[in-house]
Amino acid sequence: MFVCICVLCVCLTAVISRNQEGPGEMGKAVLIPKDDQEKMKELFKINQFNLMASDLIALNRSLPDVRLEGCKTKVYPDELPNTSVVIVFHNEAWSTLLRTVYSVINRSPHYLLSEVILVDDASERDFLKLTLENYVKNLEVPVKIIRMEERSGLIRARLRGAAASKGQVITFLDAHCECTLGWLEPLLARIKEDRKTVVCPIIDVISDDTFEYMAGSDMTYGGFNWKLNFRWYPVPQREMDRRKGDRTLPVRTPTMAGGLFSIDRNYFEEIGTYDAGMDIWGGENLEMSFRIWQCGGSLEIVTCSHVGHVFRKATPYTFPGGTGHVINKNNRRLAEVWMDEFKDFFYIISPGVVKVDYGDVSVRKTLRENLKCKPFSWYLENIYPDSQIPRRYYSLGEIRNVETNQCLDNMGRKENEKVGIFNCHGMGGNQVFSYTADKEIRTDDLCLDVSRLNGPVIMLKCHHMRGNQLWEYDAERLTLRHVNSNQCLDEPSEEDKMVPTMQDCSGTRSQQWLLRNMTLGA
Ligand SMILES: *[C@@H]1O[C@H](CO)[C@@H](O)[C@H](O)[C@H]1NC(C)=O
Ligand SMILES: *[C@@H]1O[C@H](CO)[C@@H](O)[C@H](O)[C@H]1NC(C)=O
Ligand SMILES: *[C@@H]1O[C@H](CO)[C@@H](O)[C@H](O)[C@H]1NC(C)=O
Repeated sequence: MFVCICVLCVCLTAVISRNQEGPGEMGKAVLIPKDDQEKMKELFKINQFNLMASDLIALNRSLPDVRLEGCKTKVYPDELPNTSVVIVFHNEAWSTLLRTVYSVINRSPHYLLSEVILVDDASERDFLKLTLENYVKNLEVPVKIIRMEERSGLIRARLRGAAASKGQVITFLDAHCECTLGWLEPLLARIKEDRKTVVCPIIDVISDDTFEYMAGSDMTYGGFNWKLNFRWYPVPQREMDRRKGDRTLPVRTPTMAGGLFSIDRNYFEEIGTYDAGMDIWGGENLEMSFRIWQCGGSLEIVTCSHVGHVFRKATPYTFPGGTGHVINKNNRRLAEVWMDEFKDFFYIISPGVVKVDYGDVSVRKTLRENLKCKPFSWYLENIYPDSQIPRRYYSLGEIRNVETNQCLDNMGRKENEKVGIFNCHGMGGNQVFSYTADKEIRTDDLCLDVSRLNGPVIMLKCHHMRGNQLWEYDAERLTLRHVNSNQCLDEPSEEDKMVPTMQDCSGTRSQQWLLRNMTLGA
Protein backbone atom coordinates (compact mmCIF):
# COMPACT_ATOMS: atom_id res chain seq x y z
CA MET A 1 0.00 0.00 0.00
CA PHE A 2 2.71 2.41 1.06
CA VAL A 3 4.63 1.65 -2.12
CA CYS A 4 1.56 2.33 -4.25
CA ILE A 5 1.06 5.75 -2.74
CA CYS A 6 4.68 6.53 -3.30
CA VAL A 7 4.54 5.54 -6.95
CA LEU A 8 1.49 7.75 -7.35
CA CYS A 9 3.33 10.59 -5.69
CA VAL A 10 6.17 10.36 -8.14
CA CYS A 11 3.78 10.24 -11.08
CA LEU A 12 1.77 13.16 -9.84
CA THR A 13 4.82 15.31 -9.21
CA ALA A 14 6.07 14.51 -12.69
CA VAL A 15 2.75 15.51 -14.28
CA ILE A 16 2.46 18.67 -12.27
CA SER A 17 5.97 19.86 -12.94
CA ARG A 18 5.59 19.23 -16.67
CA ASN A 19 2.31 21.13 -16.75
CA GLN A 20 3.78 24.04 -14.90
CA GLU A 21 6.40 24.60 -17.57
CA GLY A 22 4.34 26.12 -20.37
CA PRO A 23 2.96 29.68 -20.39
CA GLY A 24 -0.31 30.02 -18.51
CA GLU A 25 -0.25 26.46 -17.13
CA MET A 26 -2.10 26.05 -13.83
CA GLY A 27 -3.96 29.24 -14.76
CA LYS A 28 -0.91 31.42 -14.25
CA ALA A 29 -0.60 34.90 -15.74
CA VAL A 30 1.25 35.30 -19.01
CA LEU A 31 3.51 38.33 -19.12
CA ILE A 32 4.59 39.65 -22.48
CA PRO A 33 8.24 40.79 -22.74
CA LYS A 34 8.80 44.54 -23.19
CA ASP A 35 9.97 44.16 -26.79
CA ASP A 36 6.66 42.66 -27.85
CA GLN A 37 4.35 45.06 -26.08
CA GLU A 38 3.68 47.30 -29.06
CA LYS A 39 2.60 44.29 -31.07
CA MET A 40 0.59 43.07 -28.09
CA LYS A 41 -1.36 46.34 -27.92
CA GLU A 42 -2.18 46.13 -31.62
CA LEU A 43 -3.44 42.56 -31.28
CA PHE A 44 -5.45 43.48 -28.18
CA LYS A 45 -7.77 45.63 -30.30
CA ILE A 46 -8.96 42.71 -32.41
CA ASN A 47 -10.91 40.96 -29.65
CA GLN A 48 -10.53 43.43 -26.75
CA PHE A 49 -8.40 40.93 -24.87
CA ASN A 50 -4.72 40.04 -24.90
CA LEU A 51 -4.70 37.84 -27.98
CA MET A 52 -0.91 37.49 -27.90
CA ALA A 53 -1.09 36.04 -24.39
CA SER A 54 -3.98 33.76 -25.31
CA ASP A 55 -2.14 32.45 -28.37
CA LEU A 56 0.89 31.55 -26.24
CA ILE A 57 -1.17 29.36 -23.92
CA ALA A 58 -1.81 25.69 -24.73
CA LEU A 59 -5.36 24.96 -25.92
CA ASN A 60 -5.55 22.32 -23.19
CA ARG A 61 -3.78 24.24 -20.43
CA SER A 62 -4.05 23.03 -16.85
CA LEU A 63 -6.03 24.97 -14.25
CA PRO A 64 -5.99 25.04 -10.46
CA ASP A 65 -8.77 23.25 -8.57
CA VAL A 66 -10.50 26.24 -7.01
CA ARG A 67 -13.44 24.38 -5.49
CA LEU A 68 -14.36 24.47 -1.82
CA GLU A 69 -12.88 21.47 -0.01
CA GLY A 70 -16.36 20.06 0.62
CA CYS A 71 -17.01 19.98 -3.14
CA LYS A 72 -13.99 17.84 -3.98
CA THR A 73 -15.31 14.81 -2.16
CA LYS A 74 -18.98 15.00 -3.17
CA VAL A 75 -20.32 11.92 -4.91
CA TYR A 76 -22.89 12.31 -7.66
CA PRO A 77 -25.32 9.69 -9.00
CA ASP A 78 -24.04 7.53 -11.88
CA GLU A 79 -27.19 8.08 -13.85
CA LEU A 80 -27.08 11.74 -14.79
CA PRO A 81 -28.82 13.32 -17.78
CA ASN A 82 -26.48 14.04 -20.69
CA THR A 83 -26.01 17.51 -22.12
CA SER A 84 -25.47 19.34 -25.36
CA VAL A 85 -23.10 22.26 -24.95
CA VAL A 86 -24.13 25.22 -27.10
CA ILE A 87 -21.52 27.90 -27.79
CA VAL A 88 -22.34 30.95 -29.94
CA PHE A 89 -19.40 32.82 -31.46
CA HIS A 90 -18.84 35.81 -33.69
CA ASN A 91 -15.32 36.50 -34.98
CA GLU A 92 -13.91 34.78 -31.90
CA ALA A 93 -10.16 34.23 -31.66
CA TRP A 94 -9.00 30.72 -32.51
CA SER A 95 -7.20 30.12 -29.24
CA THR A 96 -10.04 31.23 -26.94
CA LEU A 97 -12.71 29.37 -28.90
CA LEU A 98 -10.74 26.14 -29.06
CA ARG A 99 -9.63 26.43 -25.46
CA THR A 100 -13.31 26.60 -24.53
CA VAL A 101 -14.03 23.46 -26.56
CA TYR A 102 -11.01 21.57 -25.20
CA SER A 103 -11.87 22.45 -21.61
CA VAL A 104 -15.37 21.05 -22.15
CA ILE A 105 -14.12 17.84 -23.75
CA ASN A 106 -11.18 17.26 -21.40
CA ARG A 107 -13.00 18.00 -18.16
CA SER A 108 -16.37 16.34 -18.75
CA PRO A 109 -17.09 12.61 -18.57
CA HIS A 110 -17.77 11.77 -22.23
CA TYR A 111 -20.89 9.75 -21.53
CA LEU A 112 -22.44 12.96 -20.21
CA LEU A 113 -21.60 14.94 -23.33
CA SER A 114 -24.12 14.45 -26.06
CA GLU A 115 -22.36 16.91 -28.37
CA VAL A 116 -20.81 20.33 -28.63
CA ILE A 117 -22.69 22.72 -30.90
CA LEU A 118 -20.84 25.75 -32.20
CA VAL A 119 -23.19 28.37 -33.62
CA ASP A 120 -21.38 30.80 -35.89
CA ASP A 121 -23.19 34.13 -35.86
CA ALA A 122 -21.98 35.17 -39.32
CA SER A 123 -18.26 35.50 -38.56
CA GLU A 124 -16.05 37.01 -41.24
CA ARG A 125 -12.72 35.47 -40.31
CA ASP A 126 -11.46 32.80 -42.70
CA PHE A 127 -10.02 30.46 -40.09
CA LEU A 128 -13.48 30.06 -38.60
CA LYS A 129 -14.75 28.47 -41.83
CA LEU A 130 -13.22 25.33 -43.38
CA THR A 131 -10.16 25.32 -41.09
CA LEU A 132 -12.40 25.08 -38.06
CA GLU A 133 -14.62 22.44 -39.66
CA ASN A 134 -11.66 20.21 -40.43
CA TYR A 135 -10.10 20.74 -37.05
CA VAL A 136 -13.11 19.73 -34.97
CA LYS A 137 -13.58 16.50 -36.95
CA ASN A 138 -10.60 15.06 -35.07
CA LEU A 139 -11.89 15.80 -31.58
CA GLU A 140 -13.04 13.00 -29.31
CA VAL A 141 -16.60 14.30 -28.93
CA PRO A 142 -18.96 15.15 -31.80
CA VAL A 143 -18.72 18.87 -32.57
CA LYS A 144 -21.42 20.29 -34.82
CA ILE A 145 -21.08 23.68 -36.49
CA ILE A 146 -24.19 25.65 -37.36
CA ARG A 147 -23.90 28.82 -39.45
CA MET A 148 -26.37 31.69 -39.21
CA GLU A 149 -27.03 33.14 -42.67
CA GLU A 150 -26.77 36.69 -41.36
CA ARG A 151 -25.79 38.47 -38.19
CA SER A 152 -28.54 37.48 -35.74
CA GLY A 153 -27.24 38.17 -32.26
CA LEU A 154 -26.83 35.95 -29.24
CA ILE A 155 -30.50 35.32 -28.56
CA ARG A 156 -31.52 34.03 -31.97
CA ALA A 157 -28.25 32.14 -32.44
CA ARG A 158 -28.77 30.35 -29.13
CA LEU A 159 -32.31 29.47 -30.13
CA ARG A 160 -30.95 27.89 -33.30
CA GLY A 161 -28.35 25.92 -31.36
CA ALA A 162 -30.94 24.76 -28.86
CA ALA A 163 -33.28 23.61 -31.63
CA ALA A 164 -30.52 21.45 -33.10
CA SER A 165 -29.47 19.93 -29.76
CA LYS A 166 -30.13 16.31 -28.81
CA GLY A 167 -29.01 16.11 -25.19
CA GLN A 168 -31.43 15.93 -22.28
CA VAL A 169 -29.95 19.14 -20.92
CA ILE A 170 -28.72 22.21 -22.79
CA THR A 171 -25.65 23.93 -21.41
CA PHE A 172 -24.96 27.39 -22.81
CA LEU A 173 -21.43 28.73 -22.66
CA ASP A 174 -19.73 31.81 -24.07
CA ALA A 175 -16.96 31.37 -26.63
CA HIS A 176 -14.11 32.42 -24.30
CA CYS A 177 -14.56 30.17 -21.29
CA GLU A 178 -12.54 27.48 -19.54
CA CYS A 179 -14.32 24.73 -17.62
CA THR A 180 -12.57 23.37 -14.56
CA LEU A 181 -12.37 19.88 -13.12
CA GLY A 182 -15.75 18.58 -11.96
CA TRP A 183 -17.70 21.51 -13.40
CA LEU A 184 -20.42 19.48 -15.11
CA GLU A 185 -21.55 16.77 -12.69
CA PRO A 186 -22.94 19.09 -9.98
CA LEU A 187 -24.94 21.05 -12.57
CA LEU A 188 -26.50 17.93 -14.06
CA ALA A 189 -27.08 16.36 -10.66
CA ARG A 190 -29.10 19.36 -9.54
CA ILE A 191 -31.24 19.22 -12.70
CA LYS A 192 -31.77 15.50 -12.14
CA GLU A 193 -33.07 16.29 -8.63
CA ASP A 194 -35.43 18.95 -9.93
CA ARG A 195 -35.85 19.45 -13.65
CA LYS A 196 -37.33 22.92 -13.13
CA THR A 197 -34.13 24.20 -11.60
CA VAL A 198 -31.95 26.24 -13.93
CA VAL A 199 -28.36 26.16 -12.78
CA CYS A 200 -25.31 28.39 -13.22
CA PRO A 201 -21.72 27.65 -12.29
CA ILE A 202 -19.65 30.12 -10.30
CA ILE A 203 -18.11 32.30 -12.96
CA ASP A 204 -14.37 32.60 -12.39
CA VAL A 205 -12.44 35.46 -13.90
CA ILE A 206 -9.92 34.97 -16.68
CA SER A 207 -7.97 38.21 -16.91
CA ASP A 208 -8.33 39.94 -20.25
CA ASP A 209 -4.74 41.20 -19.83
CA THR A 210 -2.79 38.17 -18.67
CA PHE A 211 -5.24 35.25 -18.94
CA GLU A 212 -4.59 34.54 -15.30
CA TYR A 213 -7.30 32.31 -13.82
CA MET A 214 -8.88 33.73 -10.66
CA ALA A 215 -11.54 31.98 -8.59
CA GLY A 216 -14.91 33.69 -8.39
CA SER A 217 -16.72 34.03 -5.09
CA ASP A 218 -19.48 31.80 -3.76
CA MET A 219 -20.62 34.76 -1.62
CA THR A 220 -22.18 36.86 -4.38
CA TYR A 221 -25.39 36.37 -6.28
CA GLY A 222 -27.25 38.03 -9.12
CA GLY A 223 -29.49 41.08 -8.77
CA PHE A 224 -30.32 44.13 -10.84
CA ASN A 225 -30.71 47.86 -10.38
CA TRP A 226 -33.45 50.31 -11.38
CA LYS A 227 -31.88 50.74 -14.79
CA LEU A 228 -32.26 46.96 -15.25
CA ASN A 229 -28.52 46.38 -15.32
CA PHE A 230 -27.50 42.99 -14.00
CA ARG A 231 -25.35 43.40 -10.85
CA TRP A 232 -23.59 41.12 -8.37
CA TYR A 233 -24.55 41.64 -4.72
CA PRO A 234 -23.49 39.83 -1.52
CA VAL A 235 -25.48 36.68 -0.73
CA PRO A 236 -27.80 37.82 2.09
CA GLN A 237 -27.87 36.26 5.52
CA ARG A 238 -31.33 34.70 4.92
CA GLU A 239 -29.88 32.60 2.09
CA MET A 240 -26.88 31.57 4.21
CA ASP A 241 -29.36 30.55 6.93
CA ARG A 242 -31.53 28.58 4.51
CA ARG A 243 -28.43 26.54 3.58
CA LYS A 244 -27.54 26.21 7.26
CA GLY A 245 -24.17 27.73 6.52
CA ASP A 246 -23.15 24.97 4.08
CA ARG A 247 -21.46 26.89 1.28
CA THR A 248 -21.30 23.81 -0.95
CA LEU A 249 -25.10 23.83 -1.32
CA PRO A 250 -26.56 25.75 -4.28
CA VAL A 251 -27.41 29.43 -3.78
CA ARG A 252 -30.88 30.51 -4.86
CA THR A 253 -30.18 33.57 -6.98
CA PRO A 254 -32.75 36.20 -8.05
CA THR A 255 -31.10 36.63 -11.46
CA MET A 256 -28.37 35.16 -13.60
CA ALA A 257 -25.57 36.79 -15.55
CA GLY A 258 -26.82 34.87 -18.57
CA GLY A 259 -23.66 33.73 -20.32
CA LEU A 260 -23.32 30.31 -18.73
CA PHE A 261 -26.12 28.03 -17.52
CA SER A 262 -27.68 24.60 -17.88
CA ILE A 263 -31.37 23.88 -18.33
CA ASP A 264 -33.40 20.75 -18.93
CA ARG A 265 -34.09 20.67 -22.65
CA ASN A 266 -37.85 20.08 -22.36
CA TYR A 267 -38.18 22.60 -19.57
CA PHE A 268 -36.45 25.19 -21.79
CA GLU A 269 -39.28 24.65 -24.29
CA GLU A 270 -42.06 24.58 -21.71
CA ILE A 271 -41.00 27.81 -20.08
CA GLY A 272 -40.80 29.65 -23.40
CA THR A 273 -37.10 29.48 -24.47
CA TYR A 274 -36.06 33.09 -25.11
CA ASP A 275 -38.07 36.12 -26.19
CA ALA A 276 -37.38 35.90 -29.92
CA GLY A 277 -38.63 39.48 -30.25
CA MET A 278 -35.49 40.68 -28.45
CA ASP A 279 -32.62 41.76 -30.66
CA ILE A 280 -28.95 40.84 -30.54
CA TRP A 281 -28.10 40.76 -26.84
CA GLY A 282 -28.98 42.42 -23.52
CA GLY A 283 -31.88 42.05 -21.11
CA GLU A 284 -32.46 38.42 -22.07
CA ASN A 285 -30.82 37.18 -18.87
CA LEU A 286 -33.18 39.20 -16.64
CA GLU A 287 -36.15 38.26 -18.79
CA MET A 288 -35.33 34.61 -18.32
CA SER A 289 -34.62 35.02 -14.61
CA PHE A 290 -37.97 36.72 -13.89
CA ARG A 291 -39.80 34.19 -16.05
CA ILE A 292 -38.24 31.18 -14.35
CA TRP A 293 -39.06 32.40 -10.86
CA GLN A 294 -42.50 33.85 -11.61
CA CYS A 295 -43.59 30.76 -13.54
CA GLY A 296 -42.74 28.12 -10.98
CA GLY A 297 -39.10 27.25 -11.61
CA SER A 298 -36.00 28.17 -9.70
CA LEU A 299 -32.61 29.59 -10.48
CA GLU A 300 -29.47 28.58 -8.63
CA ILE A 301 -25.75 29.06 -8.57
CA VAL A 302 -24.19 25.66 -8.02
CA THR A 303 -21.17 26.59 -5.93
CA CYS A 304 -19.33 23.33 -6.61
CA SER A 305 -19.16 24.10 -10.35
CA HIS A 306 -16.57 26.59 -11.59
CA VAL A 307 -16.21 27.89 -15.13
CA GLY A 308 -13.83 30.69 -16.09
CA HIS A 309 -14.80 33.51 -18.42
CA VAL A 310 -12.74 36.25 -20.06
CA PHE A 311 -14.32 39.51 -18.89
CA ARG A 312 -13.71 42.34 -21.30
CA LYS A 313 -13.85 46.04 -20.59
CA ALA A 314 -15.30 46.82 -24.01
CA THR A 315 -17.02 44.85 -26.69
CA PRO A 316 -15.10 44.45 -29.95
CA TYR A 317 -18.23 43.94 -32.00
CA THR A 318 -20.51 46.40 -33.69
CA PHE A 319 -24.21 45.83 -34.16
CA PRO A 320 -26.52 47.24 -36.77
CA GLY A 321 -28.37 50.16 -35.14
CA GLY A 322 -26.01 50.36 -32.13
CA THR A 323 -26.21 48.57 -28.79
CA GLY A 324 -27.78 51.32 -26.67
CA HIS A 325 -31.03 51.28 -28.60
CA VAL A 326 -31.17 47.47 -28.68
CA ILE A 327 -30.72 47.14 -24.93
CA ASN A 328 -33.44 49.74 -24.26
CA LYS A 329 -35.81 47.90 -26.56
CA ASN A 330 -35.08 44.55 -24.93
CA ASN A 331 -35.40 46.02 -21.45
CA ARG A 332 -38.74 47.56 -22.35
CA ARG A 333 -39.99 44.17 -23.49
CA LEU A 334 -38.99 42.55 -20.23
CA ALA A 335 -40.42 45.42 -18.16
CA GLU A 336 -43.73 45.37 -20.05
CA VAL A 337 -44.23 41.62 -19.85
CA TRP A 338 -42.92 40.75 -16.39
CA MET A 339 -42.62 43.73 -14.05
CA ASP A 340 -46.20 44.95 -13.69
CA GLU A 341 -46.40 48.36 -11.95
CA PHE A 342 -42.76 48.10 -10.85
CA LYS A 343 -41.69 48.92 -14.38
CA ASP A 344 -42.09 52.56 -13.27
CA PHE A 345 -38.77 52.37 -11.45
CA PHE A 346 -37.05 51.64 -14.76
CA TYR A 347 -38.96 54.23 -16.74
CA ILE A 348 -38.64 57.06 -14.25
CA ILE A 349 -34.91 56.66 -13.79
CA SER A 350 -34.29 56.35 -17.54
CA PRO A 351 -36.00 59.34 -19.12
CA GLY A 352 -36.38 58.90 -22.85
CA VAL A 353 -36.61 55.13 -22.74
CA VAL A 354 -40.42 55.26 -22.93
CA LYS A 355 -40.06 56.58 -26.47
CA VAL A 356 -38.28 53.43 -27.64
CA ASP A 357 -40.48 51.18 -29.75
CA TYR A 358 -40.52 47.70 -28.26
CA GLY A 359 -42.62 45.89 -30.84
CA ASP A 360 -45.39 43.44 -30.11
CA VAL A 361 -45.29 41.58 -26.78
CA SER A 362 -48.70 39.91 -26.99
CA VAL A 363 -47.19 36.45 -27.58
CA ARG A 364 -45.11 36.78 -24.42
CA LYS A 365 -48.06 38.05 -22.40
CA THR A 366 -50.09 35.05 -23.54
CA LEU A 367 -47.22 32.81 -22.48
CA ARG A 368 -47.31 34.42 -19.04
CA GLU A 369 -51.03 33.76 -18.78
CA ASN A 370 -50.82 30.18 -20.04
CA LEU A 371 -48.08 29.33 -17.58
CA LYS A 372 -50.12 30.97 -14.78
CA CYS A 373 -47.11 32.98 -13.68
CA LYS A 374 -47.10 34.94 -10.45
CA PRO A 375 -46.95 38.74 -10.25
CA PHE A 376 -43.70 40.65 -9.94
CA SER A 377 -44.69 41.69 -6.40
CA TRP A 378 -44.60 38.00 -5.45
CA TYR A 379 -41.08 37.75 -6.86
CA LEU A 380 -39.93 40.80 -4.89
CA GLU A 381 -41.56 39.58 -1.70
CA ASN A 382 -40.43 35.95 -1.82
CA ILE A 383 -37.38 35.66 -4.03
CA TYR A 384 -35.74 39.05 -3.79
CA PRO A 385 -36.77 40.86 -0.60
CA ASP A 386 -33.45 42.69 -0.59
CA SER A 387 -34.09 43.95 -4.12
CA GLN A 388 -33.02 47.45 -5.09
CA ILE A 389 -36.63 47.99 -6.15
CA PRO A 390 -38.60 48.17 -2.90
CA ARG A 391 -41.69 45.98 -2.68
CA ARG A 392 -43.53 48.74 -0.78
CA TYR A 393 -42.83 52.43 -0.78
CA TYR A 394 -44.27 55.75 0.20
CA SER A 395 -43.03 57.68 -2.80
CA LEU A 396 -41.11 57.34 -6.04
CA GLY A 397 -40.17 60.67 -7.58
CA GLU A 398 -38.62 63.97 -6.59
CA ILE A 399 -37.93 65.16 -3.05
CA ARG A 400 -38.55 68.92 -3.11
CA ASN A 401 -37.61 71.51 -0.50
CA VAL A 402 -40.57 73.74 0.41
CA GLU A 403 -38.49 76.85 1.09
CA THR A 404 -36.09 76.84 -1.85
CA ASN A 405 -38.17 74.74 -4.25
CA GLN A 406 -35.04 72.76 -5.12
CA CYS A 407 -34.83 68.97 -5.42
CA LEU A 408 -32.48 66.33 -4.10
CA ASP A 409 -30.22 65.22 -6.96
CA ASN A 410 -27.70 62.38 -7.03
CA MET A 411 -25.78 64.37 -9.67
CA GLY A 412 -24.85 61.09 -11.32
CA ARG A 413 -22.34 60.62 -8.50
CA LYS A 414 -21.16 57.29 -7.25
CA GLU A 415 -21.18 55.43 -4.00
CA ASN A 416 -19.53 57.24 -1.08
CA GLU A 417 -20.15 60.73 -2.45
CA LYS A 418 -22.44 63.47 -1.15
CA VAL A 419 -26.01 63.73 -2.34
CA GLY A 420 -26.62 67.03 -4.11
CA ILE A 421 -29.50 69.48 -4.47
CA PHE A 422 -30.42 71.35 -7.62
CA ASN A 423 -33.24 73.13 -9.44
CA CYS A 424 -36.07 70.66 -9.99
CA HIS A 425 -36.32 69.61 -13.62
CA GLY A 426 -39.21 67.15 -13.40
CA MET A 427 -37.51 64.75 -15.79
CA GLY A 428 -36.80 61.91 -13.36
CA GLY A 429 -33.30 60.51 -13.87
CA ASN A 430 -30.89 61.83 -11.24
CA GLN A 431 -33.71 63.43 -9.24
CA VAL A 432 -35.59 60.19 -8.62
CA PHE A 433 -35.65 59.01 -5.03
CA SER A 434 -37.86 56.52 -3.28
CA TYR A 435 -38.84 56.75 0.36
CA THR A 436 -39.41 53.08 1.08
CA ALA A 437 -41.61 51.24 3.57
CA ASP A 438 -38.34 50.34 5.33
CA LYS A 439 -37.79 54.08 5.77
CA GLU A 440 -34.77 54.38 3.54
CA ILE A 441 -34.29 57.21 1.08
CA ARG A 442 -32.98 55.44 -2.00
CA THR A 443 -31.77 56.44 -5.39
CA ASP A 444 -31.34 53.16 -7.24
CA ASP A 445 -29.06 50.95 -5.12
CA LEU A 446 -27.69 53.82 -3.03
CA CYS A 447 -29.21 55.03 0.23
CA LEU A 448 -28.87 58.38 1.99
CA ASP A 449 -26.59 57.75 4.95
CA VAL A 450 -25.45 60.03 7.77
CA SER A 451 -22.77 58.89 10.18
CA ARG A 452 -21.86 62.14 11.96
CA LEU A 453 -23.71 64.94 13.68
CA ASN A 454 -24.37 67.78 11.19
CA GLY A 455 -23.73 65.49 8.23
CA PRO A 456 -22.67 65.26 5.49
CA VAL A 457 -25.35 63.20 3.74
CA ILE A 458 -23.56 60.50 1.80
CA MET A 459 -24.88 57.96 -0.70
CA LEU A 460 -23.89 54.44 0.31
CA LYS A 461 -24.96 50.97 -0.86
CA CYS A 462 -28.23 50.21 0.89
CA HIS A 463 -27.56 47.73 3.68
CA HIS A 464 -31.13 46.99 4.87
CA MET A 465 -29.93 47.22 8.48
CA ARG A 466 -31.64 50.52 9.32
CA GLY A 467 -28.84 52.14 11.36
CA ASN A 468 -27.52 55.26 9.65
CA GLN A 469 -29.90 54.78 6.73
CA LEU A 470 -33.12 55.10 8.74
CA TRP A 471 -35.23 58.21 8.14
CA GLU A 472 -38.61 59.14 9.61
CA TYR A 473 -40.85 61.17 7.31
CA ASP A 474 -43.55 63.16 9.10
CA ALA A 475 -46.21 63.63 6.45
CA GLU A 476 -47.84 66.47 8.43
CA ARG A 477 -44.82 68.49 9.41
CA LEU A 478 -43.11 67.40 6.16
CA THR A 479 -39.83 66.74 7.97
CA LEU A 480 -37.26 64.06 7.19
CA ARG A 481 -35.69 63.16 10.52
CA HIS A 482 -32.56 61.03 10.60
CA VAL A 483 -33.34 58.72 13.49
CA ASN A 484 -29.83 57.93 14.77
CA SER A 485 -28.66 61.54 14.92
CA ASN A 486 -32.13 62.92 15.68
CA GLN A 487 -31.42 65.74 13.20
CA CYS A 488 -33.45 66.89 10.22
CA LEU A 489 -32.60 67.23 6.54
CA ASP A 490 -32.24 70.93 5.75
CA GLU A 491 -31.46 73.27 2.87
CA PRO A 492 -27.83 73.96 1.87
CA SER A 493 -25.59 76.24 3.89
CA GLU A 494 -23.97 79.42 2.59
CA GLU A 495 -20.65 77.61 2.08
CA ASP A 496 -21.92 74.97 -0.31
CA LYS A 497 -25.16 75.64 -2.11
CA MET A 498 -25.10 72.30 -3.90
CA VAL A 499 -25.55 69.92 -0.95
CA PRO A 500 -28.29 69.63 1.69
CA THR A 501 -27.28 69.84 5.37
CA MET A 502 -28.26 68.16 8.64
CA GLN A 503 -29.51 70.46 11.43
CA ASP A 504 -31.30 70.14 14.74
CA CYS A 505 -35.00 69.80 13.99
CA SER A 506 -36.62 73.20 14.31
CA GLY A 507 -39.71 73.04 12.13
CA THR A 508 -38.58 75.84 9.79
CA ARG A 509 -39.72 75.81 6.17
CA SER A 510 -36.21 74.93 5.07
CA GLN A 511 -36.71 71.56 6.82
CA GLN A 512 -39.92 70.79 4.97
CA TRP A 513 -39.84 68.38 2.05
CA LEU A 514 -42.50 67.24 -0.40
CA LEU A 515 -42.24 63.58 -1.39
CA ARG A 516 -44.12 62.89 -4.58
CA ASN A 517 -45.03 59.99 -6.75
CA MET A 518 -43.97 60.92 -10.22
CA THR A 519 -46.29 59.96 -13.04
CA LEU A 520 -44.92 59.01 -16.40
CA GLY A 521 -45.03 61.69 -19.01
CA ALA A 522 -45.69 64.36 -16.36
C1 LIG B 1 -2.01 18.91 -23.74
O1 LIG B 1 -1.83 18.12 -24.89
C2 LIG B 1 -0.48 17.77 -25.13
C3 LIG B 1 -0.39 17.07 -26.47
O2 LIG B 1 -1.30 16.02 -26.53
C4 LIG B 1 0.02 16.91 -23.97
O3 LIG B 1 1.38 16.58 -24.15
C5 LIG B 1 -0.14 17.72 -22.67
O4 LIG B 1 0.23 16.92 -21.57
C6 LIG B 1 -1.56 18.18 -22.51
N1 LIG B 1 -1.64 19.07 -21.36
C7 LIG B 1 -2.43 18.84 -20.33
C8 LIG B 1 -2.44 19.88 -19.26
O5 LIG B 1 -3.15 17.87 -20.26
C1 LIG C 1 -28.52 10.96 -23.88
O1 LIG C 1 -29.42 10.28 -23.02
C2 LIG C 1 -30.57 9.74 -23.69
C3 LIG C 1 -31.49 9.15 -22.64
O2 LIG C 1 -30.81 8.27 -21.81
C4 LIG C 1 -30.15 8.72 -24.71
O3 LIG C 1 -31.28 8.26 -25.42
C5 LIG C 1 -29.16 9.35 -25.67
O4 LIG C 1 -28.68 8.37 -26.55
C6 LIG C 1 -28.02 9.97 -24.93
N1 LIG C 1 -27.18 10.65 -25.88
C7 LIG C 1 -25.89 10.48 -25.91
C8 LIG C 1 -25.18 11.13 -27.05
O5 LIG C 1 -25.28 9.82 -25.09
C1 LIG D 1 -47.11 56.25 -4.28
O1 LIG D 1 -47.32 55.02 -4.95
C2 LIG D 1 -47.23 53.87 -4.10
C3 LIG D 1 -47.33 52.65 -4.98
O2 LIG D 1 -48.42 52.69 -5.80
C4 LIG D 1 -48.34 53.95 -3.07
O3 LIG D 1 -48.26 52.83 -2.24
C5 LIG D 1 -48.14 55.23 -2.28
O4 LIG D 1 -49.20 55.37 -1.34
C6 LIG D 1 -48.13 56.45 -3.17
N1 LIG D 1 -47.76 57.60 -2.36
C7 LIG D 1 -48.32 58.79 -2.43
C8 LIG D 1 -47.74 59.86 -1.56
O5 LIG D 1 -49.25 59.03 -3.15
